[in-house]
Amino acid sequence: MNILVTGAAGFIGFHLASRLASDGHRVVALDNLNDYYAVSLKQARVEQLHGVPFHRIDIADLASLEALFARERFTHVVNLAAQAGVRHSVEHPHEYGHSNLTGFLNLLDVCKRHAVEHLLYASSSSVYGRQKSLPFRESDPVDQPASIYAATKRANEMMAYSYADLHRLPSTGMRFFTVYGPWGRPDMAPCLFAASLLRGEPIDIFNHGRMARDFTYIDDVVECIVRLLPYPPTVDAERSAPHDIYNLGRGKPIALLDFVATLEARLGVTATKHFRQMQPGDMERTWADTRKLQSVIHYTPQVSLERGIDRFVDWLLDYRELLLESMAA
Ligand SMILES: NC(=O)c1ccc[n+]([C@@H]2O[C@H](COP(=O)([O-])OP(=O)(O)OC[C@H]3O[C@@H](n4cnc5c(N)ncnc54)[C@H](O)[C@@H]3O)[C@@H](O)[C@H]2O)c1
Repeated sequence: MNILVTGAAGFIGFHLASRLASDGHRVVALDNLNDYYAVSLKQARVEQLHGVPFHRIDIADLASLEALFARERFTHVVNLAAQAGVRHSVEHPHEYGHSNLTGFLNLLDVCKRHAVEHLLYASSSSVYGRQKSLPFRESDPVDQPASIYAATKRANEMMAYSYADLHRLPSTGMRFFTVYGPWGRPDMAPCLFAASLLRGEPIDIFNHGRMARDFTYIDDVVECIVRLLPYPPTVDAERSAPHDIYNLGRGKPIALLDFVATLEARLGVTATKHFRQMQPGDMERTWADTRKLQSVIHYTPQVSLERGIDRFVDWLLDYRELLLESMAA
């Protein structure tokens, strides 16, 4: 496979590009290195991608994307480039239009023109929005997104379906559920909690602690992507277009306070908690039904919270300065 990973300076993209390269695939990394969070952290990740060519390109720049595809002849593309962050989207909706709508459309179009064999793209558990019944199943209605971020992720699924149907571009949407681990995102709860604990500062707990997340360890997510990559959806009795969607979560929701307690125990510190109201756009609980994923790739995320936090903390202690600097930026 000749694989393009977009968003490769980001948390998930960096881990995926490293794994694919160490498996012996030809991998090309792309990212626009935007400053949504510290560019120094993104650059530090890219520096670890030994032997992987890196291109600083914005996926909203169609001409640059087209030139890259014409040169490289990718067989597989994994799109992880996006403007992420539920809360940020409430105040900055246009950034989501740029990367997640215009950028994603560009990517679909170049993949179609260059006959890419399989496009995998990041969606999100946030598409389940106001959905009440748990666990979340891929067949659940997803027409009540709680944020513009979620709305753009759902739009991606529909855009990909339409390219699969009209142009026979095979694609797979991956609904990620709160991914955590080494080199994680400084805007997400695990890094925010960890930084506060390392600095001896209080922790903000939203919705007065009545929150649960289906925390999924990064290596598990990467393993699922690696297993999905060689199998583009085909048209059959169940599918009228070569497109499919999977939940990529562990299937075991964890109360936010339990996550914090496990992190505190591992770091040997206890923080003062400031209990706050629910933030706009947020969801109270996420919980993935993983049966569909299991039936296709015969694997579901399985790293326990304790093991995942152990590995996260090992990284945290080695890269403490980098993380704290990037959180201050
Ligand atoms: N981490 C999670 O828990 C989680 C959960 C659900 C969905 N997702 C989705 O998974 C994907 C990867 O998430 P992540 O956690 O690695 O986020 P991340 O922000 O660390 O990585 C995204 C990368 O994409 C790059 N990027 C953004 N806009 C771009 C553009 N227009 N052109 C080129 N590059 C661009 C950013 O610079 C960044 O490095 C995203 O689509 C995100 O929405 C992540």
